[in-house]
Amino acid sequence: MGLPDVPAGGLAGRRLVLRPLEAGDALTLYALIDASRSALRRRLRWVDDVHAIADVKGFVGRAAATSSGGALVLGVFEAKAGRCVGVAALQGLAEGGQVAELGGWIGVERRGRGYACEAGKALVGQAFRKWGLRRLYARIDPANRDGRRVLQKLGFRYEGCLRREKRLNGRWVDQECWGLLKEEWIHFPPPRGGK
Ligand SMILES: CC(C)(COP(=O)(O)OP(=O)(O)OC[C@H]1O[C@@H](n2cnc3c(N)ncnc32)[C@H](O)[C@@H]1OP(=O)(O)O)[C@@H](O)C(=O)NCCC(=O)NCCS
Repeated sequence: MGLPDVPAGGLAGRRLVLRPLEAGDALTLYALIDASRSALRRRLRWVDDVHAIADVKGFVGRAAATSSGGALVLGVFEAKAGRCVGVAALQGLAEGGQVAELGGWIGVERRGRGYACEAGKALVGQAFRKWGLRRLYARIDPANRDGRRVLQKLGFRYEGCLRREKRLNGRWVDQECWGLLKEEWIHFPPPRGGK
């Protein structure tokens, strides 16, 4: 079972809009990745596979093709300027489309403004309120303090640690597991606003 479509105009936050990536976004997205390369590769495995705009075009094409299947990948754009600042995704859809992994990143130049929290709130809210998901989870490196803070602010709870679960930059790293249930979101929604 796939995710329902993203509404026309995308998912709106206070300052941001989340919408499916298009071929025309590849150039901007590549520039964003390139400018954030060293920060991103500390946390994400795919960064060293992005050598040229063609690699991002391939990614955007695959994202469009899988949005009706096991993953939904959305670009995060500043609403006023239309500038792409990152990516937010629901992946690994399972259990009849009711469980998925939340992930994403924000380019270094736009970090520390509450954008990850704002984008997360828009996506999580849509997932629980409109798309029928019951559980979201996320996995982060224990050294990822900013990622952990975003998850906490979204209401995720710590569920345990998978030891030496993932190979990242030549090292085996632990993975903290964080989870959020629909009823927790509905009864204890995070405060409004970016931060
Ligand atoms: C994690 C990430 C998405 C956060 O993006 P962001 O837009 O800067 O996050 P926000 O501005 O919404 O910040 C959320 C909270 O984290 C805090 N924070 C941000 N960077 C931080 C850092 N380097 N160290 C400690 N806290 C940090 C912010 O201060 C804020 O908390 P506060 O409101 O209490 O001050 C970004 O750092 C990133 O892309 N990292 C690489 C990919 C990744 O780790 N993704 C997470 C996988 S789930």
